[in-house]
Amino acid sequence: MCLFKKLSAGLLLGAVLSAGCTMIGNNNSKEISESFKPGELWLDSDSVHINAHGGGLLYHEGTYYWYGEHKTSGRGGNTSLLGLRCYSSEDLYNWKNEGIALASVDDPESEITHGCVMERPKVIYNATTKQFVMWFHLELKGQGYAAARTALAVSDTPTGPFTYVKSTRVNANVWPLDASQVMKSHSGETKYDWWTPEWRKEVEDGLFVALNFKEGQMSRDMTLFVDDDGTAYHIHSAEENLTLHISELTPDYKDFTGKWIRVAPGGHNEAPAVFKHQDKYYMITSGCTGWDPNEARLMVADSMMGPWKYMGNPCQGKDAELTFHSQSTYILPVAGKKDAFIFMGDRWMPRNPIDGRYIWLPVIFENNLPVIKWYDQWDLSFFDKEI
Ligand code: GAL
Repeated sequence: MCLFKKLSAGLLLGAVLSAGCTMIGNNNSKEISESFKPGELWLDSDSVHINAHGGGLLYHEGTYYWYGEHKTSGRGGNTSLLGLRCYSSEDLYNWKNEGIALASVDDPESEITHGCVMERPKVIYNATTKQFVMWFHLELKGQGYAAARTALAVSDTPTGPFTYVKSTRVNANVWPLDASQVMKSHSGETKYDWWTPEWRKEVEDGLFVALNFKEGQMSRDMTLFVDDDGTAYHIHSAEENLTLHISELTPDYKDFTGKWIRVAPGGHNEAPAVFKHQDKYYMITSGCTGWDPNEARLMVADSMMGPWKYMGNPCQGKDAELTFHSQSTYILPVAGKKDAFIFMGDRWMPRNPIDGRYIWLPVIFENNLPVIKWYDQWDLSFFDKEI
């Protein structure tokens, strides 16, 4: 009998009230896991379902760290009541809860007051400053998704606690590398109705770039990517989620250099996840349907600064058109294994966000392109096999 079956047979799916938040778990002692079971409850070493949604991973000195959104139960459980959580693991199957890495606070004046939205945290290590640098999507309390800011926190240790530094719009007063004269001379206002062909053309030409030029570009769904030469990039949904921006970070990873590009203008991409394989850069994104899943998109480039080419849906098989009922958040290169990448997605549960599930699937290369297929259960030996 497999371990997960044993676990689920003993599961008490009741909610356990603890420290003011609901947790999903059981009363049984946790057994060691030796495989991934996408979409099932994933218990940490305290037998509680892992609470690190919209997550990102960092591999540092032999340990993986998983950072994600701490969600709570019921409607409203997507706003931040505690902050961003961290787990650690040495094998990627078994995770220890390291607590809240960056806490939201009880101060109504703070940008990260309880009830704000803190999403999709990503942490990278800066070898020069020896700091762990976290960026995440921040929405200010009571403003829905209007603020569209990215926020910075730093720590000297991977598990934190991280110190909150600031939030910002991105690249204020800087045009993208390939800005056209049409963009630069646009007033930022349009006489057309949204979604008309004329409006779409203006969006492609940079309507929103011009509109947000002084304040800085919007930043919602985001990820980070560190290239082999140590240069880091902040990849984010901008222009009302219509266009992705890729912005180079400064050498300390705590600011923007002003070097940035637009990707797929007007293409409506969210949930970016980037990885590099054999000198090619790959990005998997989703379309924009809120918490509902849609079809993933694959893009490829020879440089982070583009051009990026659309390559279709990387998923294959049943439910491929819904990314297996998930949305991308990160793609992890597995340490010590060649050509081994794990696609990480979220199966959101907006009516009870704490119950959100994790869809981790191996990335396969077919005809030199990444492909994702569904497996009910798999383990890292997958990458040792000839496919
Ligand atoms: C999704 C996005 C999530 C969250 C959600 C809010 O499209 O990927 O991170 O922002 O919208 O509706």
